[in-house]
Amino acid sequence: MKFLVINGPNLNLLGLREPAIYGSKNFEALQNFIKDACAREGVDCELFQSNHEGTIVDKIQEAYGIFDGIIINPAAYTHTSVAILDALKAVAIPTVEVHLSDINSREEFRKHSFVSMYALKTICGLGFDGYAEAVKHLKKHLKNLTVS
Ligand code: DQA
Repeated sequence: MKFLVINGPNLNLLGLREPAIYGSKNFEALQNFIKDACAREGVDCELFQSNHEGTIVDKIQEAYGIFDGIIINPAAYTHTSVAILDALKAVAIPTVEVHLSDINSREEFRKHSFVSMYALKTICGLGFDGYAEAVKHLKKHLKNLTVS
């Protein structure tokens, strides 16, 4: 089982960026956390981060036929990107959406997510643990598909 984990814009600045909201651990710590979570579940993973919408769209397109699942934190593109939503729908790879913060208890504009219209599940407000939850959820979903 192979997962692609995508992190969107400004997540590379974790630790520096609004620590009261996103925590004090840096992006490298997040990447190590995700790798460990995947290893614990026996899942292979590739980690990808970009600050550019089109680059994320390209990566999702390239995932077709290679990855069994996608975990994505689209960051600010969550609230704006029809292109990322359409790319996910086009490749039809099972996807779980993750946000470090609770987007529903912040500014009004963060309450809407385009990616949620496709994602199997949206996990938010759990910090790094949200990614571990996403790995577990996606693995369970894919195993159920194989059984039935
Ligand atoms: C975020 C929430 C988004 O609203 C914000 O633009 C981000 C990070 C989160 O992980 O909490 O960049 O996706």
